[in-house]
Amino acid sequence: ASSLDVDVSKVPVGGEIRVLIGGQPFFIRHRTSAEIRAAQNVELSSLPDPQSDEERLVPMQSGEYNRAILVTSGSCTHLGCVPVGPAQGNTGDFGGWYCPCHGSHYDTSGRIRRGPAPSNLPVPDYNWVSPAVINIS
Ligand code: FES
Repeated sequence: ASSLDVDVSKVPVGGEIRVLIGGQPFFIRHRTSAEIRAAQNVELSSLPDPQSDEERLVPMQSGEYNRAILVTSGSCTHLGCVPVGPAQGNTGDFGGWYCPCHGSHYDTSGRIRRGPAPSNLPVPDYNWVSPAVINIS
């Protein structure tokens, strides 16, 4: 299995970087404080695939969370298209990502909010190598 170290300090606030690991796309998003609040202030029972924002984060070695950094798969859970996001100037109706193939909208936690996708963008296995570097596998 392949893995990749990513220096998350290089991801601009409000932006993302996209990486390929074993041919699969992943998003590393540096959320603004407004995007973090939006991810936290959701009634979980209103979500198609209920998950809290914290459940979608991996704590750092210190045990603390870096809530600004969100890591997800970049494959839409409907039929696998790669959603667009801040880099393409379209974050959908919920501020996260938008899949133009059939119109799925993901929020700032990568959770499905509207459209045909059945589930949230999966969070890959990753860990914090240092306060600035994650290893995704
Ligand atoms: Fe994304 Fe269909 S593949 S909405």
